[in-house]
Amino acid sequence: MSRVGERRLALRLYSLAVLQLSAFYDAAVLKIKHSSDFDKTKRVNFTSMSQFPSHRFSVAPMLDWTDRHCRYFHRLLTRQTLLYTEMVTTGAILFGKGDYLGYSREEQPVALQLGGSDPAALAECAARAEALGYSEINLNAGCPSDRVQNGRFGACLMAEPELVADCVAAMKEAVTIPVTVKTRIGIDDSDSYAFLQRFIEVVSQRGGCQSFTLHARKAWLSGLSPKENREIPPLDYDRVYRVKQELPHLTICINGGVKSLEEAKGHLEHVDGVMMGREAYQNPGILACVDRELFGDCAEPLAPAAAVEAMYPYIESELTKGTYLGHITRHMLGLFQGVPGARQFRRHLSENAHKAGADVEILRQALAFVSGKDT
Ligand SMILES: Cc1cc2nc3c(=O)[nH]c(=O)nc-3n(C[C@H](O)[C@H](O)[C@H](O)COP(=O)(O)O)c2cc1C
Repeated sequence: MSRVGERRLALRLYSLAVLQLSAFYDAAVLKIKHSSDFDKTKRVNFTSMSQFPSHRFSVAPMLDWTDRHCRYFHRLLTRQTLLYTEMVTTGAILFGKGDYLGYSREEQPVALQLGGSDPAALAECAARAEALGYSEINLNAGCPSDRVQNGRFGACLMAEPELVADCVAAMKEAVTIPVTVKTRIGIDDSDSYAFLQRFIEVVSQRGGCQSFTLHARKAWLSGLSPKENREIPPLDYDRVYRVKQELPHLTICINGGVKSLEEAKGHLEHVDGVMMGREAYQNPGILACVDRELFGDCAEPLAPAAAVEAMYPYIESELTKGTYLGHITRHMLGLFQGVPGARQFRRHLSENAHKAGADVEILRQALAFVSGKDT
């Protein structure tokens, strides 16, 4: 690694250490909050001390994509971006056998996205998540998959704003961290501005939700797959801008089809935040410029190769816990877009990272295909 690269990496590791300390501090404060003699009046202090995440830029919740390994990697690339978990259902948390809320402190700030529509269950899950140090709870009211609809949550909740409000209210009662909602601009033929406006008004007034992320296209609840529902209904950014104009006291973030930081800057002239999904995952190098371009940080972005090298200790530690190398490196495949050797980098990982016994050496070898080539 060059000297500049080494310096950047050292800076990045230093800021991670500082963050870890602050997360430790937050956890200590949380412990106080959850102890039986917690005084509700201390909430205000706690709230102002904890680092409420900025919504200016976030990476979207994406099932099977934004798992904890992905988020750890993204966090190395950007300190400021708010990262969302994949959607986790209340059923999985309350009755499942897996560790659905596990994450590394270094990922902070992380928002947990919950899927569910039972206020009591959501409140319980939100409380557990806060105790673990999550920075925000987000309710999924935008996913149109059949499975989710069968569970009566996701996008079909747009038809039941009172229920969403009750869910939000129950979670807010249980936690001090922000409770937010991610939704669409409409469902099926309920796609007028008045329908969206009523949904937001009910959820904000009755439920107390102050922050919404709006995927700027409606969802068809039948006839389209979730993938088609991310592509076929047309984007209508103006509708999201109008929500912010007419309800300026609310935090409104826009999502859907954003492919560059320049586009994100354009949206930020109309709304409070931009959530990027597929582009951030498929081209994670874009995240390295977010802190400087959107948050005004002066620090030089971490070079992609340095980000890969910074993953080595994490990977080594995960391998000892039984994680497969490929489960981590699959999130890194899009990193070197446009760089000579990128294809070999991807191929080497795709062909070798899933083999039994694959370790960090495979990643080192893959990196050699792109190292020194403008990385
Ligand atoms: C693989 C994949 C999984 C997704 N899973 C979720 C999810 O768990 N929860 C959710 O609210 N949205 C989910 N989404 C939708 C994204 O959060 C986002 O709203 C959508 O991709 C549009 O943003 P984009 O155009 O920037 O990708 C998913 C999208 C993809 C591609």
